[in-house]
Amino acid sequence: MKKEPLGIGFIGSGFITRFHIQSFTAVRDAEIRGIWSPNRKHASDTATYARSLDLGDTKAYDSISDMVSDPDIEAIWLCGPNHKRVENMEEIVAAAAQRMMPLKGIACEKPLARNVGEARQVVELARKAGVPTGYLESDLFAPSQDAGRRLIWARGAATTGRPYLARAAEEHSGPHMPWFWQGDLQGGGVLNDMMCHSVLLVQHLLTRPGEPHSTVRPVRVTSHIASLKWSRPEYARLLSKTMGKKVDYRKHPSEDFASATIEYETNEGTTAIGEVTTSWSFVGAGLRHTTELLGPEYSMTHNSLDTGLRVFFSREVKGKQGEDFVEKQNSETGLMPVLPNEASAYGYENENRHFVRAFQSATLPELTFEDGLEVVQILMTCYQSAEQGKTLNYPPRGLDSYIPLVARGKWKPGK
Ligand SMILES: NC(=O)c1ccc[n+]([C@@H]2O[C@H](COP(=O)([O-])OP(=O)(O)OC[C@H]3O[C@@H](n4cnc5c(N)ncnc54)[C@H](O)[C@@H]3O)[C@@H](O)[C@H]2O)c1
Repeated sequence: MKKEPLGIGFIGSGFITRFHIQSFTAVRDAEIRGIWSPNRKHASDTATYARSLDLGDTKAYDSISDMVSDPDIEAIWLCGPNHKRVENMEEIVAAAAQRMMPLKGIACEKPLARNVGEARQVVELARKAGVPTGYLESDLFAPSQDAGRRLIWARGAATTGRPYLARAAEEHSGPHMPWFWQGDLQGGGVLNDMMCHSVLLVQHLLTRPGEPHSTVRPVRVTSHIASLKWSRPEYARLLSKTMGKKVDYRKHPSEDFASATIEYETNEGTTAIGEVTTSWSFVGAGLRHTTELLGPEYSMTHNSLDTGLRVFFSREVKGKQGEDFVEKQNSETGLMPVLPNEASAYGYENENRHFVRAFQSATLPELTFEDGLEVVQILMTCYQSAEQGKTLNYPPRGLDSYIPLVARGKWKPGK
């Protein structure tokens, strides 16, 4: 029997909303019916974009409350900036309480919030409202990671023992909007922005398919952060010029490099290690995800820039800067990799298909706000470890009220 489509409303009309909308062309049983953004024109342009892809009769709304009050909207995809998470959630749940039919779900982009205190507020608001939640972590749904994980566990792990080392890195040359660079608004630097992907991915890869992530428990965390590029005077000046005066890395830098080693105890009593690294100081063709999973007699590797398609443009080819080959593209000439369907390759299609099905059928999705909270707890432990220059047992004390120095504008690189 054909299902009624799930009516989705988006909060935010920025970069990630566009990615999600594009991915919905490959998702059945969903319609994008609403967009809200504080900028009315951006909301209407994004609604026009969704309609142009035949994703529904998408309307731009004047407020979150208006959108959530509309019975045509059945689920919310929360894609606003990090510093508005709690405020956005408060408005969603207040309007949801007035509905005749309850919302079927709220899915929220990474990171769930800027710090543990805020993440707990987000979890609590949803719990009190009784709305099912989904934590949007696209990496776990990327077809390559998923296929690699299944094969490794079905063949290598089944016959020679579980994997013991997972490595993941996500790197590019820096975010597109000023708020990402501002520690107080974003919650930190690249560690908060991008290591959220890798810390969950390594735990997921090390977890036997079908078992919960809690079977691979983090027990010790060692982390390091640095400002390698963007606090150099010439780059700090360039950053202020392109991102505005509020982004001044001579006075208030955020880290543009972070690494962490996370030690896990598995439910079988064995030790496993996750090695994660991330940077905004990587200049290559564009965004690069690299992943490895290793066990006693096997290994898996993936590099998102090893695409099947490459183009070459000589120095005679002059053109505008763009991201038409790959996200966060750094060049339009030379030999360049092309990723034709990024919405699929990065996992957005599978991710949205999964959450639509879960909300439609009222079943528990693979990732909820609780998973998002756990990720924030690990990230904050990484900041604490980096600040103290030592390995910490997980969870350390005082996590709930902890705010990283970077987010308080007090971090001094190298100290
Ligand atoms: N999964 C991923 O790989 C990925 C990639 C990029 C961004 N993200 C996450 O998605 C979220 C949005 O990032 P983005 O790249 O789209 O940022 P962006 O700056 O491009 O867009 C943010 C959007 O939020 C809107 N906004 C402004 N004020 C708001 C408010 N008060 N309430 C709600 N929305 C408001 C803006 O108008 C804009 O449309 C962030 O939390 C970010 O971490 C995830």
